[in-house]
Amino acid sequence: MSKNRVQIFDTTLRDGEQVPGCKLNTNQKIIIAEQLDTLGVDVIEAGFPVSSPGDFKSVEEVSKIVKNATVCGLTRANENDIKVAAQSLKYAKRPRIHTGIGTSESHIKYKFNSTPEQIIERAVNAVKYAKSFVEDVEFYAEDAGRTNNEYLARVCEAVIKAGATVLNIPDTTGYCLPEEYGAKIKYLKENVKGIDNVILSCHCHNDLGLATANAMAGVQNGARQIECTINGIGERAGNTALEEVVMIMKQHPNLNLDTNINTQMLFSTSKMVQEHMGMQVQPNKAVVGDNAFAHSSGIHQDGVIKNRETYEIMDPADVGVTESSIILTARSGRAALAYRAKNIGYELTKTQLDSVYPEFLKFADTKKEIIDNDIHQLMEISKVVNY
Ligand code: KIV
Ligand code: ZN
Repeated sequence: MSKNRVQIFDTTLRDGEQVPGCKLNTNQKIIIAEQLDTLGVDVIEAGFPVSSPGDFKSVEEVSKIVKNATVCGLTRANENDIKVAAQSLKYAKRPRIHTGIGTSESHIKYKFNSTPEQIIERAVNAVKYAKSFVEDVEFYAEDAGRTNNEYLARVCEAVIKAGATVLNIPDTTGYCLPEEYGAKIKYLKENVKGIDNVILSCHCHNDLGLATANAMAGVQNGARQIECTINGIGERAGNTALEEVVMIMKQHPNLNLDTNINTQMLFSTSKMVQEHMGMQVQPNKAVVGDNAFAHSSGIHQDGVIKNRETYEIMDPADVGVTESSIILTARSGRAALAYRAKNIGYELTKTQLDSVYPEFLKFADTKKEIIDNDIHQLMEISKVVNY
């Protein structure tokens, strides 16, 4: 694999599913996993097998149907979690166990009532035990975002020695600034023995709206895996949004980073996840929101009608959206009205447009949006006939 290829680790079915009210049943997990596999993600985190019999079953069934991606199950750093995860992954073509433990001062002190040395010992034992079941073992240092870099480097070095193949550096609380998170990855790249033999992974939460920026800072400093979810769903304010990081890398070729994602499936995948989880994205959501390619102000509409690139940095077709939309409101100009009228059969002359436009504005001031039916009415009032 090229040095600049960034692996996409999708955790919609695990971290994404932790959203209250978004629980998925096994059947739904299978349907979404099939879609993610075709989308081209490298890893599907299918669940937390020890958490419930239902989740165990889901990971087992997903393992049976996934053809290309690695299938991963989450565990805490204890033998029972790891053993159960290994059982749930037994049908996977490419199984991965994702084990780990909190490494920040507050996790060590309050969650585990432990010491830094004991945490390293538990981390190493967990990786060794997981390694007795599968070759591919990912270790997460929970709350790495708030973990002292020198200690984090010691943890990383110890788990690499124990056999970890991927090191996940989660900003669990979404606290880091992009420069800080990028510097953390750089520090690990420069100070951990054996780091070049493993993949560093970014797992960023969005509590301050920085999950995407932080993941990008991570890969710009040497990480080669991003953990993300469709629509950015996940605990609290969510995770890095898959569609955002993938399109950033595609639209910025100078970054020299790429993924295996078939971007034309992004919109339909987003819709599928919204439906199954019963959670709609906001209309202004980057890349997949309903307004992501909609233009409503006169100045922008005029530009887009002349040349799409004036106000669009992505081709909607590249993410599976059929076309940009020109929304008619009281802020729209003549160009937009003429364009939308033409789409439904009215080729307006300049004189006709001059007479219809003031009527359009009056009408538009009374409504949020002018739809095709309204245009037909306007044309009738203004006695414009279809061509
Ligand atoms: O946010 C986090 O730290 C996690 C880990 C369990 C990987 O989701
Ligand atoms: Zn997380």
